[in-house]
Amino acid sequence: MLEICVNLCFTILFLLHPYGASIQKHNVLIILIDDLRHLSDKDIFLPNIDKIAANGINFENAYAQQALCAPSRNSLLTGRRPDSLRLYDFYNYWRVKVGNFTTIPQFYKENGFETYSVGKVFHPGASSNFTDDYPLSWSHVPYHPPTEQYKDAAVCKDKETLRYQKNLICPVKVEIQPGKSLPDLESLEHAIRIINERNSSKPFMLAIGFHKPHIPLKFPKKYLERVPIQTVHPPQQPNKPEGLPTVSWHPWTDVRHRDDIKRLNISFPYGTMPTDWTLRIRQSYYAAATYIDDLVGKLMAAVNKNNTIVLLTSDHGWSLGENGLWAKYSNFNVALKVPLIFNVPGMPHKSIETPVELIDIFPTLAELSGLSSNIPKCTCDDKRLLCFEGNSLVSLMGMNRFNISVKSKSFALSQYPRPSVHPKSNSDKPRLKDIKIMGYSIKTKRFRYTEWISFNNTLFTRDWNKVYALELYDHSFDPEETKNVYLQPKYKRIVKYLSTILRSRVNICDN
Ligand SMILES: *[C@@H]1O[C@H](CO)[C@@H](O)[C@H](O)[C@H]1NC(C)=O
Ligand SMILES: *[C@@H]1O[C@H](CO)[C@@H](O)[C@H](O)[C@H]1NC(C)=O
Ligand SMILES: *[C@@H]1O[C@H](CO)[C@@H](O)[C@H](O)[C@H]1NC(C)=O
Ligand SMILES: *[C@@H]1O[C@H](CO)[C@@H](O)[C@H](O)[C@H]1NC(C)=O
Ligand SMILES: *[C@@H]1O[C@H](CO)[C@@H](O)[C@H](O)[C@H]1NC(C)=O
Ligand SMILES: *[C@@H]1O[C@H](CO)[C@@H](O)[C@H](O)[C@H]1NC(C)=O
Ligand SMILES: *[C@@H]1O[C@H](CO)[C@@H](O)[C@H](O)[C@H]1NC(C)=O
Repeated sequence: MLEICVNLCFTILFLLHPYGASIQKHNVLIILIDDLRHLSDKDIFLPNIDKIAANGINFENAYAQQALCAPSRNSLLTGRRPDSLRLYDFYNYWRVKVGNFTTIPQFYKENGFETYSVGKVFHPGASSNFTDDYPLSWSHVPYHPPTEQYKDAAVCKDKETLRYQKNLICPVKVEIQPGKSLPDLESLEHAIRIINERNSSKPFMLAIGFHKPHIPLKFPKKYLERVPIQTVHPPQQPNKPEGLPTVSWHPWTDVRHRDDIKRLNISFPYGTMPTDWTLRIRQSYYAAATYIDDLVGKLMAAVNKNNTIVLLTSDHGWSLGENGLWAKYSNFNVALKVPLIFNVPGMPHKSIETPVELIDIFPTLAELSGLSSNIPKCTCDDKRLLCFEGNSLVSLMGMNRFNISVKSKSFALSQYPRPSVHPKSNSDKPRLKDIKIMGYSIKTKRFRYTEWISFNNTLFTRDWNKVYALELYDHSFDPEETKNVYLQPKYKRIVKYLSTILRSRVNICDN
């Protein structure tokens, strides 16, 4: 009898924890870095993040659903695509506009965890009800660092005018900043205080959102020395390529409007950044990333890795002059590809090439925490509070001992809206009422294929027969996506194949 129980109970425990961990729930730490692109650049040296990757499960091909903060964060945190949340700008709160969908922190809170938000986790404002979705998502009022109020202040000493300006490039002396600190320094300190001082017997789920390397590129001066300008390389193709459809171009207005860049009089919308500025912006982006890497190292030193699942990712990437483009706002690989690293107690290092998506995070964490049984896969226009649009990545991690079949896709889907075929001042961030075109992308290991099609912003429907532009990039020889090859005869079959999958998967409701 006892033996039966021993075997049975063991099996039940295993089902709850497929990788065979103990019953005590692990804490969960989510590190979300704003606008940090995937780390393959040889120019970036991020020793602390590299260390997490070296100890963890590293997804080398992870993609955001849309290269814009609010849609990407709401998508990641609810595990639903921008189309399902009907959010492509900053102005809809899903609970009111679409459905009362459960978020990752809410899910943990409802499962007995104490949940904390530190810094920029939800995009603040209308898209999270001006409350970062508190109290439904969080056990405690979300923490915002006091110096966040100066995040866009004129505090960058300009080398030419010698005035304090709102520059893009903004290394600072922290001691003379208003509040004598920076938001990410304050967030780090607060997160460490929570981890060290909380008295609860409950496990925690803490999400910390660092603001950098989001622009302005404001960071403690000393990090500039870690990235000597002589070591910074220019992009392979610094101008708009010939075959690039106008609809896929975005005019990076936020970058042009910074005081230091404005002075360069770069022509709208296709003018190119001067080479010396290209190198300097890249240098400062890398320096800002190195600054955050330092903070990540300090945070990790405060975490008990034996009982904490750590996830590090970003809301989307950032173009650093490739094809003449800057910032996010596009379907380019550099704008969509992000780091995605899991550290799970007891799970050995693995590097995974399969393309995955940020909506896969919710089902993955749920399974890693032993909380995913009975959660259904979402169906067309699913209004249930809890279902998964993404796939758990645990089977890819190779630790699913029962080999429960999880159909893993071998591609990722992303999208970006546009108000018009030709770039206008609002092409970067069109409001819902102005969106007329949607660019849908499918990324496989080798290709990125995109269809820019007509989109109805009141019915939220697509017209696949009204195509504005098509793009195909072959990463086997063109990782920077400089050459649109969709018209080349030898790719005819692959275009047809990718188009079929893209159209059938973009919205299962269209079928
Ligand atoms: C949304 O869901 C939460 C949690 O289940 C519940 O407390 C709340 O009342 C719901 N709100 C609405 C408007 O249904
Ligand atoms: C959203 O905010 C409003 C106003 O602060 C509040 O009354 C409402 O309960 C909030 N909704 C949710 C779901 O938290
Ligand atoms: C934990 O308990 C100690 C001692 O009672 C108290 O000083 C401290 O403020 C508590 N920490 C938190 C975060 O509540
Ligand atoms: C930019 O335009 C202004 C006004 O036309 C002019 O004074 C300035 O010299 C120009 N700067 C550069 C870098 O061309
Ligand atoms: C974590 O586990 C290792 C190996 O079992 C042990 O040496 C170490 O003390 C543990 N650390 C903490 C903080 O519990
Ligand atoms: C697990 O599933 C994969 C894919 O279906 C299969 O190739 C493999 O042999 C299975 N492993 C075990 C241990 O059953
Ligand atoms: C969207 O569909 C509605 C209803 O059919 C129609 O009135 C509207 O003109 C359409 N919008 C666009 C931009 O086509």
